[in-house]
Amino acid sequence: MARVVFSREELMAEHAYAKPQVEAGYRLHGGFDAKGVYISPRTLHRWPAVEAWQAQLTSRGFPVIDASTRLLKREAYPNIDQQKMLLGNGLGETLWNALTITGIIEARGRALCDATAPDFQAIVEEDVSGMSIGHLNKGLLYAHGLDEGGNKAGGQGGHDDMWFAVRDALFGKDAYPIPDVPASIARPEIGRLMPQIDKIYEDWILLLMNVLMIEVRAESFFSFCTNLMRSPDVFRDRREAANHAAELVERIRTDEAIHVAYLQSFVSEMRSVTIKCLNGDRIKGSQMIDPIWEGMIHWHAVTQADFSREQGRAAIVARLKKHSSGGALVAKFDALEQKAAA
Ligand SMILES: [Fe+2]
Ligand SMILES: [Fe+2]
Repeated sequence: MARVVFSREELMAEHAYAKPQVEAGYRLHGGFDAKGVYISPRTLHRWPAVEAWQAQLTSRGFPVIDASTRLLKREAYPNIDQQKMLLGNGLGETLWNALTITGIIEARGRALCDATAPDFQAIVEEDVSGMSIGHLNKGLLYAHGLDEGGNKAGGQGGHDDMWFAVRDALFGKDAYPIPDVPASIARPEIGRLMPQIDKIYEDWILLLMNVLMIEVRAESFFSFCTNLMRSPDVFRDRREAANHAAELVERIRTDEAIHVAYLQSFVSEMRSVTIKCLNGDRIKGSQMIDPIWEGMIHWHAVTQADFSREQGRAAIVARLKKHSSGGALVAKFDALEQKAAA
């Protein structure tokens, strides 16, 4: 059986890169092997660790929960044809805003470096020292925070800088103003959902579930971006830069996979263990976790997706209407959504 206990140093350890990642003169995280294949930062042991935890979970008779884009119920909005239509009419602001907001939200992920999870062993009957649950404060959260927001003190940019590089390659620096960014992209909570445990544990379970669903939604945004940027009919005056931007998005996507995997392990493990309730009862984790996880999936996949479509459409319609042929463009834009639905 593979090893399941890792030190913080191991989970933070880097590969010996043949070449560092440098873009437009900026040192970014990660690097390349001798063949030029991109390797994500701090994954020398992080990947084998997550694989060992998931294998252990399976051998104990529990599944690894689905954390793929199959959980999502809605198409990207605007869809790829709609986005192409906007770009074709000189309306790059929608994509510019999406890329800027993504970069700014990635930067906020740095907060995970300063966060300390509560000791989950206190509410779990089984030994968690050989699970992802037992490694949150042993580098998993810290490495995740650096991946998202960079290690500025160490002179390394993370996903924030990578998204800004993508955006600037497509549009040029300062092409549009910096848009408003939502205060939070997590589900707002209005009351206790897991009264069986202390609120601090509930808060952390919800936080990690939110982040997991945000990562799943990001995955679908990555494929949207790479498909769009690699299309020969957009950014025609800068095809080489657009293809390179798509490659940068691929690297971010590669880095995000380890986030999905460890968070997926965390939720799967939590449903596999016995929870020690405040009243002294012992319950199966799945009994507490499953309805909460279902609700979280639904909020991100349906509730929030529908809300963000409404908001997105209103902003786009306002932009289209500034055009002399605004009315016709709105009709054409909406028709492209219906065409995709049909
Ligand atoms: Fe990220
Ligand atoms: Fe991430």
